[in-house]
Amino acid sequence: MDYDVKGDVAVLIGAARGIGFAAARQLVGEGGKVAIADIDAGAAEAAAARLADEGAAAIGVGCDITSTDSIADLLARVEAELGPPAILVNSAAVLDDKTFMDSAPEDWARMLDVCLSGPMNAIHAVLPGMCERGYGRIVCLASDAARVGQARLSYYAAAKAGVVALVKSVAQEVGRNGVTLNIVSPGATNTELRQEREAGLRASMGEEKYARREQTVLRMYPTRRLGEPDDIAGAILYLVSRRAGWVTGQVMSVNGGFVMP
Ligand SMILES: NC(=O)c1ccc[n+]([C@@H]2O[C@H](COP(=O)([O-])OP(=O)(O)OC[C@H]3O[C@@H](n4cnc5c(N)ncnc54)[C@H](O)[C@@H]3O)[C@@H](O)[C@H]2O)c1
Repeated sequence: MDYDVKGDVAVLIGAARGIGFAAARQLVGEGGKVAIADIDAGAAEAAAARLADEGAAAIGVGCDITSTDSIADLLARVEAELGPPAILVNSAAVLDDKTFMDSAPEDWARMLDVCLSGPMNAIHAVLPGMCERGYGRIVCLASDAARVGQARLSYYAAAKAGVVALVKSVAQEVGRNGVTLNIVSPGATNTELRQEREAGLRASMGEEKYARREQTVLRMYPTRRLGEPDDIAGAILYLVSRRAGWVTGQVMSVNGGFVMP
């Protein structure tokens, strides 16, 4: 299938690694131009350089999604070097592995800042240009934890549920302007974010207990495997393409059948 994204400029925030980077790689494979933005500026530049070495139009830019100034600087650079963005992908996130009782207001504030205010900042910044040009595709990464809840991820799940409500609401406002917004909701996906969380669990549980837990987790997936970044990126690619012009305000779970809400 031709996704018809050739020449489209995509801004991917939180894309120096993981799912965001896999989406950037798939987009350039289809002829898109990508700006890889990440709070880790060095990693963003290195990730873009990898794609540019393979012949892609890619730039890497340091950007903190919690800062409106940082996003304005990012968009100014993108417009100057690649052109006006047709696509925005919000993939930035942080994760805390704590029960709600053990957490503190500072933990919630940081989480809400990155995972809820961050997408708000980015969407608010790109919308006027997209509406004026009559075309835009926005995808935010949420989580199935937002749909069914997850112990030890309460305020992460709450922030992601907020993003789902944001996307559905804004989708109703700007559909007439040719702009769509959708959510991709991954199940457990084998990225650095998950590996970092798992390393902590493994250390606290010990090898034997952790191995048993891994088997239990896998049995919860009808497909009997965890996700890979490319599994999720394929859904993102579809939703940011012209092929998905009549899909807006939707939540697409890509989760190996973990939950079927
Ligand atoms: N991996 C999973 O199992 C999983 C499951 C469900 C949902 N998700 C969601 O998918 C998205 C991508 O996850 P991933 O596993 O690829 O994560 P990841 O940690 O591998 O990548 C996230 C990137 O966001 C960047 N980032 C963090 N704070 C930032 C900020 N303030 N501004 C800009 N960039 C920032 C990080 O530096 C990192 O490069 C996230 O929104 C995550 O919540 C992941």
